[in-house]
Amino acid sequence: MGKGTGFGKVILFNEHFVVYGLPAIASAIGTKTTAAVERKPDPGVELIDNRPETKGYKAEKFGQQKESLDRMLKFMNIDTQKKGFKVTLAGDLIAASGVGASAASCAAIARAFSDELSLNYSDERINEVAYEGEKGYHGTPSGIDNTAATFGGLIWYKREGSSHLMERMKLRKPVEIVMGNTGIVADTKIVVAFVKERKEKQPEKYAGIFKNAERITRDARRQLEAFHLEEVGAYMDRNHELLQQIEVSSPELDMLVDLARNNGAYGAKMTGTGRGGYMVALAPGRDLQERVALAIEKKGFQALRTTIGV
Ligand code: MEV
Repeated sequence: MGKGTGFGKVILFNEHFVVYGLPAIASAIGTKTTAAVERKPDPGVELIDNRPETKGYKAEKFGQQKESLDRMLKFMNIDTQKKGFKVTLAGDLIAASGVGASAASCAAIARAFSDELSLNYSDERINEVAYEGEKGYHGTPSGIDNTAATFGGLIWYKREGSSHLMERMKLRKPVEIVMGNTGIVADTKIVVAFVKERKEKQPEKYAGIFKNAERITRDARRQLEAFHLEEVGAYMDRNHELLQQIEVSSPELDMLVDLARNNGAYGAKMTGTGRGGYMVALAPGRDLQERVALAIEKKGFQALRTTIGV
């Protein structure tokens, strides 16, 4: 049996803007997706999805998941008419919007096939396969999710034409965050297409927003590396405002962001696709993390207590 894992992720700065070549910052989180690949006697691929989920996620993503798997198999030159496989997904990462669930599953599947078929893929190759798989979910992915899912850690990421730049960032020590789940499943393809359309219609407005997004993220990197967490939180708040301006947030996300800030979080923003999915709050120290998480749970939403910069 071949086995593989992929990290869940949180985007701390510049989701959406990253699609257009702006830099972004992402971190792996403490939860993962695992994949196991076994041979089966009859041809074709059978996919068993045992991941925990936000209600409705798997059903909604079923078609995209199939397209993603087909793309990856083709990319790896695996002919399932000759050999049959059973792929089983599991792990503790919730299959939900905003935590890189699709990318984590793609990286895990690529690794499991590499293991089962002794392909000896490097991390770079796994990342390429996962990127191909992400096209099934995203259409035109920036590649940040699969890169975070494959390599883990805290990364600075920039799309550069058909290639990308990834730099590893170091934190003095891991920092507690809370991720609040709206419980709403979002469609990345649709939201990314919406931003593209708006950007084309209002080029001047978007140029201004994009300029601010670039500056905030570059400044935030400096503050993060200097471990000035209050400043980092303030930049997260400003990044959230820009995401509101490009209309990818939602009332539920805004409510959870305000709630986290009112309970002492250093900063908070939506993360990932938006229009649902998760928000993230910077809540250094176990006590503050617990306070923010409990406030979210009291409102009836799931809260994930985890860290960045491990
Ligand atoms: C989704 O997790 C992140 C987006 O920026 C899309 C992408 O980067 O491909 C919205």
